[in-house]
Amino acid sequence: MLASVLVVIITTLQWTFLKETIRHFRTTGALIPSSARLARKATEQIRGESVLLVGCGTGAILSAILDRDDLKVVDVVEINENFVRYCSDKYKDARGGITRFFYGDFLKFQFLLKYDTIITTVPHKNLPNSVVKKLCWKYREYGKRILMFEYYIPFFPAEGIIENIFNDASKTEFIRIFLNIPPIRLRVMDI
Ligand SMILES: C[S@@+](CC[C@H](N)C(=O)[O-])C[C@H]1O[C@@H](n2cnc3c(N)ncnc32)[C@H](O)[C@@H]1O
Repeated sequence: MLASVLVVIITTLQWTFLKETIRHFRTTGALIPSSARLARKATEQIRGESVLLVGCGTGAILSAILDRDDLKVVDVVEINENFVRYCSDKYKDARGGITRFFYGDFLKFQFLLKYDTIITTVPHKNLPNSVVKKLCWKYREYGKRILMFEYYIPFFPAEGIIENIFNDASKTEFIRIFLNIPPIRLRVMDI
């Protein structure tokens, strides 16, 4: 009985995500939310007290961010209205309502602070080089440490662009997480 209830809950969450993938494949980029392992590995890399998450989806990464009790600022920018609605309902009271949600394209925002860590889950592989370039310059402008999701999907023409823009990073490290659909490489950079 418990198992079937769990299956229904998991399926509902994944269906919520999949529906948006079908409607907005270019910006959603994955078929199901990030795995718990990826969420844990990504949030272990957070430095400092302020975090900006670019793309919350149904909250896989956000929920792991909110499990940390050392953060003072947790901001989220999300381009998909349904994801913003879903996560703001679900997480509005978490950690005393610390999370602020900004609905819209990350590229269109001016933020009031430079974040200690930006976690970007934007599917760069789906985007034209010119857009990836603008995103990278903006991550640099507003983040001290950048954690970038890179799915293992063949062909990524923008990889060289990312490397050029961040060629002076004081640290670049890759963390591979195969227990995720699709498997992923987390790029960790300190500016
Ligand atoms: C691959 S999904 C990841 C969702 C969730 N963080 C997870 O890991 O399960 C990418 C997310 O980035 C959002 N997104 C894509 N482009 C964006 C942009 N320019 N500004 C803000 N959010 C964006 C999508 O709507 C989606 O929620």
